[in-house]
Amino acid sequence: GTAGAAGAAGLALGAAGGTGVYAAVAGQDSGSSPALSTVGSTEIAFHGKHQAGITTPLQSRGHLIAFDLAPGAGRKEAAALLRRWSATAAELMAGRAPAADTGVALDAGPSSLTVTFGFGRTFFDRTGLTARRPVELDPLPSFSSDALDAKRSEGDLWVQIGANDALVAFHALRALQKDAGSAARVRWQMNGFNRSPGATGRPMTARNLMGQVDGTNNPRPEQPDFDRRIFVPAGGAQPWMAGGSYAVVRRIRMLLDDWEQLPVKKQEQVIGRRKADGAPLTGGTETTPLDLDKFGPDGKLVIPDNAHARISAPEQNGGAAMLRRPFSFHDGIAADGTPDAGLLFICWQADPLRGFVPVQRKLDRGDALSPFIRHESSGLFAVPGGPDRGEYVGQRLLE
Ligand code: HEM
Repeated sequence: GTAGAAGAAGLALGAAGGTGVYAAVAGQDSGSSPALSTVGSTEIAFHGKHQAGITTPLQSRGHLIAFDLAPGAGRKEAAALLRRWSATAAELMAGRAPAADTGVALDAGPSSLTVTFGFGRTFFDRTGLTARRPVELDPLPSFSSDALDAKRSEGDLWVQIGANDALVAFHALRALQKDAGSAARVRWQMNGFNRSPGATGRPMTARNLMGQVDGTNNPRPEQPDFDRRIFVPAGGAQPWMAGGSYAVVRRIRMLLDDWEQLPVKKQEQVIGRRKADGAPLTGGTETTPLDLDKFGPDGKLVIPDNAHARISAPEQNGGAAMLRRPFSFHDGIAADGTPDAGLLFICWQADPLRGFVPVQRKLDRGDALSPFIRHESSGLFAVPGGPDRGEYVGQRLLE
């Protein structure tokens, strides 16, 4: 999908030959500055049926930031904040600098910047909108393997920033944080990354920090049931969520010292796919379907019964499917001397009870990957549909 084989091709596409609009801020004539590469000039639309940053190809840089409304701030302040945030996001995504700019992204083009906004469960109580809170935001069940840090979980508001340039992403982060003003305070922030476009000879599915090709079997937008699985349809119980999606965000630590001790053959059995090219252990290429019923000469299933890709496959979960669109993270060395690194797992679905929850319930019973990972934080956010022109994100809820 977006994060997968087909979507990755999108990284190579984009409006060619644009000139850095930020350059104009520096007082330069755009004619005098050299044309940007496609990486810099690619622009993602802010307006549309869905918010950007869901089906957008993975970017090389990401920031996730959650805010809580400040004491005393309610619906009015929240509406004003979403209006400010939307205006800033629209400007930045078009490659324009906001007023009183920090200058951090001068010279760069939009670089596929996306800004995506979501509402957490607690937002609705704080703003007196409890009656319009979707049931989909009911707390996720707890899982036996959870080791969740409440301070890095949930939040009234959630912002996902992605860009193919680290400075463009940081610039957006600071601008949005400044916009929060006295209305909201940062609750937590996480920083992530993916491969840089152009690093591989051809566009490929990303790898995670365990070295696995990750994202192969994502739902793809060209599939007939994609919209139904990922986006909230019109005519639902909460009309303001039409065209929206629910994001489950988990900071998943990888126990890399243990993982890296495992011989590659064993690593491949943990997932059920080859490490080098992501092909199923039952043969073919990356995009060949898994043959879950195939036995080897030893009389054992070729894709073991606890392999991660078997247990999480939609066929094994009553069709439960989600769009995984993660970033890797690396925050140095933890107090115990092991790398504080892993996956900022973000998955998108029309209903978490038909996406993340049933799959995680099964994985939690102990798939082969479980001994090598630890879920350290969790968030669930309602991400409304994309804004029409002249509209701000969340306006259908807040006005
Ligand atoms: C597939 C890695 C956590 C759901 C895969 C694949 C890899 C992988 C390498 C096979 C390639 C692919 O189809 O993308 C990981 C790692 C995780 C992790 C390293 C944690 C650090 C999770 C979690 C869920 C999940 C928490 C959901 C609860 C899935 C699904 C598939 C998949 C639905 C596709 C299965 C299929 O249709 O074939 N994962 N995963 N994964 N994973 Fe994970």
